Amino acid sequence: MSHTVVVAASTFRGEVRVPGDKSASHRALLLSALADGTSTITGLSPGHDVQATSAILQQLGAQRRDEAGLVSIMGPPDGLQACSVPLDCGNSGTTIRLLSGVLSAISGQHTLVGDASLSKRPMDRVATPLREMGAMISGRGERVLPPLIIEGKPLTGIVYDVPVPSAQVKSAVMLAGLFASGATTVNEAVRTRTTTEEMLAACGVSLTRENVGEGRSITIQPSRPHRHQWRIPSDPSQAAFFCVLGLIHQDAVIRIMDVEGSAERTGFMRVLERMGGTIDLRTDGSMMNVVVRSSELVATEIRSQEIPSVDEAPILTVAAAAASGTSVFRDMGELRLKESDRFEGCLVLARSVGARAWSDGDDFFVEGLGSATKFEPFTSEAGLDHRIVMSSAVAGLAGHGCTIEGSDTVASSYPHFFDDVRSLQ
Ligand code: S3P
Repeated sequence: MSHTVVVAASTFRGEVRVPGDKSASHRALLLSALADGTSTITGLSPGHDVQATSAILQQLGAQRRDEAGLVSIMGPPDGLQACSVPLDCGNSGTTIRLLSGVLSAISGQHTLVGDASLSKRPMDRVATPLREMGAMISGRGERVLPPLIIEGKPLTGIVYDVPVPSAQVKSAVMLAGLFASGATTVNEAVRTRTTTEEMLAACGVSLTRENVGEGRSITIQPSRPHRHQWRIPSDPSQAAFFCVLGLIHQDAVIRIMDVEGSAERTGFMRVLERMGGTIDLRTDGSMMNVVVRSSELVATEIRSQEIPSVDEAPILTVAAAAASGTSVFRDMGELRLKESDRFEGCLVLARSVGARAWSDGDDFFVEGLGSATKFEPFTSEAGLDHRIVMSSAVAGLAGHGCTIEGSDTVASSYPHFFDDVRSLQ
């Protein structure tokens, strides 16, 4: 198994451009493959998750050409067609869940497989609404674990109240809705990332969106997306690692360029500001340049709704471990269903650096050490989870080093992470 020894660094200075947003990258590929004709994409994420989506779409009949950072996708005029070999989603929950929505409507049989991590993640959350639309989906056991077998069928629009805050579930239903007879409405009680609805609207799909309390209702009419020129901003969830590194390290000034700035993706920045972090935001259209500087952090309470999808919980755990006082992470049960059990992973990470951490139901607590200089050296087990690799690395860089077992899984979202870290030293 790969392992990386992370050595603490004395200063961090400079500028970093993190990969293109992973969510937007998957969707740009999918919507381009569904359209008739050639779409282009700049800023596509180089991560293996996004590559898995791209490779599957090519197996289904889309063509891809790469030229100097510009990706062209040719959607087949007659639409995507079933492919008889198993479609490998790798480590990527977004790939398998979004494709489930699309493949449910494409006639023929489709088999979706994944790695050891993905094979443990529940797909009932997409199978339930898609079956309601008429799809035939089977997986292992009650939680419908991969491999998934999908038989493409004619679908009917539904009204669906998403029971858990999940952008992947919302998106799977909306993508299936493109092929359904009649309108499809998705209601979410907590507003998750808006990537799908915004990108569908951008490529000509007719939909209405309405904020309802803390949630959102979206109604989509069946139609074929138009080809489009996609420009993908940098991924805020990847920027979060450099934000926390800059804040908890003793001597750092880090600028992170062209970050996607929507409210649903940048809740972690408001959390870090509340903790006393010095974060300077310059907004340029829908993108932000972010400058972070070494700061003394204090504990805070974080509700899961503030960081919908809870992708930033592991790195905020590292921030909490460096803060003074006890931070409370509320309603974090969804963390158990990510690439690894991140609920347990957050507790383990906090304890590894020497902080006290404990849980009560779906809440967990971290009593910080007051400074990352008090972190202990540690060893971390990535467990096929890219965000555990990067969170551990940040703790080691700002503290007293660490060893990460299974560090190559970082490539699922950020293959050049350790190069980018080095460029700031
Ligand atoms: C994603 C949704 C999130 C997130 C994942 C990407 C997406 O999961 O964890 O990294 O692109 O739709 P949820 O479905 O839990 O929101």
